Amino acid sequence: MHALVTGSAGFIGHALGRRLLAAGHRVTGFDAFSPYYDVALKRARHADLARHPGFEAVEGRLETPGALLDVMARAKPDLVFHLAAQAGVRYSLIDPGAYVDANLVGFANLLEAVRAHPVRHLLLASTSSAYGGDAQVPFRETDRAVSPLTLYAASKLANEAMAHSYAHLFGVPTTAFRFFTVYGPWGRPDMALFLFTAKILAGEPIEVFGEGAAERDFTFIEDLIDAILALSERPPPKPTEGGPVSAADTLSAVAPYRLVNIGGGRPVRLDAMIGALEAALDRRAERVLKPLPPGDVIRTHASTELLHALVGSLPETPLERGIPAFVDWYLSYYGDQ
Ligand SMILES: NC(=O)c1ccc[n+]([C@@H]2O[C@H](COP(=O)([O-])OP(=O)(O)OC[C@H]3O[C@@H](n4cnc5c(N)ncnc54)[C@H](O)[C@@H]3O)[C@@H](O)[C@H]2O)c1
Repeated sequence: MHALVTGSAGFIGHALGRRLLAAGHRVTGFDAFSPYYDVALKRARHADLARHPGFEAVEGRLETPGALLDVMARAKPDLVFHLAAQAGVRYSLIDPGAYVDANLVGFANLLEAVRAHPVRHLLLASTSSAYGGDAQVPFRETDRAVSPLTLYAASKLANEAMAHSYAHLFGVPTTAFRFFTVYGPWGRPDMALFLFTAKILAGEPIEVFGEGAAERDFTFIEDLIDAILALSERPPPKPTEGGPVSAADTLSAVAPYRLVNIGGGRPVRLDAMIGALEAALDRRAERVLKPLPPGDVIRTHASTELLHALVGSLPETPLERGIPAFVDWYLSYYGDQ
């Protein structure tokens, strides 16, 4: 099997690429090495993938006209995993244009490239932020989600809608994932666990938004990859060829399209996450409590009913094991300063 992974130098794309390569598949990785965070870390992730002979790297931007069409024409992948995006909730208040370029223009280019070179299954990353201000807990895929709180969330909701329209018109089976706060080795330097680790090791105070009471449905990276790989083998059927797997199913009535949460379904308070990090680092954090920034939600909590109906039960690594795995990686990569 040959997969195109966009965002392959990113946190999730790299982890997915490793697993696909280890399973004997070929992987074409497409990434722009955007400077949103440490480019050296992105280069190191790609270097890690390049140790495998089945990996081919392509450097390019989603929004460059023709770039994705060229890759698709040459690689002819069986599957496309679209993970490249301008990520981050808070940064969308600082540089909205980056979200328009990568997530709207870039995503339209991705759909056009898949239209020209159809694949067995297109899988794309959306976010728990898509639930926005509508959310009742747990967040169910069948809940109304029409009140995004940031341009990031709005761009991802738009991606879901755009993907549905293309699945309807051109028939490529498409699964959109809503991910919930993913963490683990090779993680993202803009996210709380990474920021806190760097600050605690430097002996600096950490800023705790939501005064520690915010809750996140933390998902360990390898559990997320297990779910993505299992779902990749279950492309949504055409409306004439199959029906919903359960009452929780989001299978479209007019397209081979489905939306699935990938989260553990067990939200944890931020202060409990910090406690687990202190234990793993064997250091105390000096906390500066701050209110929730605009655009952030107080809690995220995935309903996992549909995920489990589709792929059965999957590993669920608790924070008490996932955080030490992150800390081990961090210390081996950066040292303890
Ligand atoms: N990590 C999480 O907790 C989380 C949660 C919800 C959704 N997501 C989504 O999952 C996907 C992967 O997230 P991640 O955590 O690996 O983020 P990441 O920022 O580590 O990876 C994204 C990659 O895309 C690349 N990229 C950005 N803009 C590009 C462009 N215009 N052209 C080509 N490449 C570009 C970046 O260089 C980066 O390597 C994203 O779509 C993100 O929105 C992540």
